[in-house]
Amino acid sequence: MLVTMGELLQKAKKGHYAVCAPSNADEISLRASIDAAKEAQAPVIINLNYTIHPDIKFFARMVRDIANETSIPIALNQDHGAKYEHAIRAIQAGFTSVMVDRSTLPFEENIAQVSEIVKVAHACGVTVEAELGHVGYAAKDDMDERSLTDPDQAKEYCERTKVDCLAVSIGTVHGTYKGTPHIDFDLLKKLNDIVEVPLVLHGGSGTGEDKLARACHEGICKINIGTDVMQKGRDAVLETEVSAPHFTLHSFYEGYKKELIRYMKMFGSAGQA
Ligand code: 13P
Repeated sequence: MLVTMGELLQKAKKGHYAVCAPSNADEISLRASIDAAKEAQAPVIINLNYTIHPDIKFFARMVRDIANETSIPIALNQDHGAKYEHAIRAIQAGFTSVMVDRSTLPFEENIAQVSEIVKVAHACGVTVEAELGHVGYAAKDDMDERSLTDPDQAKEYCERTKVDCLAVSIGTVHGTYKGTPHIDFDLLKKLNDIVEVPLVLHGGSGTGEDKLARACHEGICKINIGTDVMQKGRDAVLETEVSAPHFTLHSFYEGYKKELIRYMKMFGSAGQA
């Protein structure tokens, strides 16, 4: 059943767990995500980045078709929408949420651009996620360019933009870490105390079970997982000995799904559907 992301996150906030948002790329990762959610009885947020699958109309149709066959609550979110047009196309296509990433812009410019999309999205019943502070990318080696989220700015940002949830920078980065990740739990506490909307964590892969489970208890309501599910899918393909290469696609599905179920249990969302 397709639902808004806002609905899933409000419930997660009350229940002190986080909904898993796996990166999707195609029908195989989509089916693995939804089947993982069914097996774990967990709500799920399907994250799709426009640059990975630009035919978002087709993707949204596929999600609707598959989601309609189950009572598990599923949200469809455009991840890291970089352009105004991308957000509008996602809303038109039937996405139930858009993540608008203006985290590298100055504060006022970030507010102005995100507020414009919030108006349109809310008029259409679509949830908006935005990012304040900047979660870097390990592959770009810009770990030093990341900037942590300032709690007072975060409060003002949410009040002025009216976003439904906020991605915060508290120590994670996207991709495979070069060193040991460190989550600033004091900062998370301050953010959770001062910001009313549910908090989101990007760059979940490789952060570590203890830290992520604690983050869920202490205010994080959605965690994005990309690298680990894709990597486990790829590992499964490489480990498969088959009579024909066609069968490796199923191995990818199994590897991805197993890893996603592990995260759903870790985040406390298993059994919450
Ligand atoms: P990871 O690939 O580090 O899990 O990050 C995924 C993500 O945050 C997508 O927005």
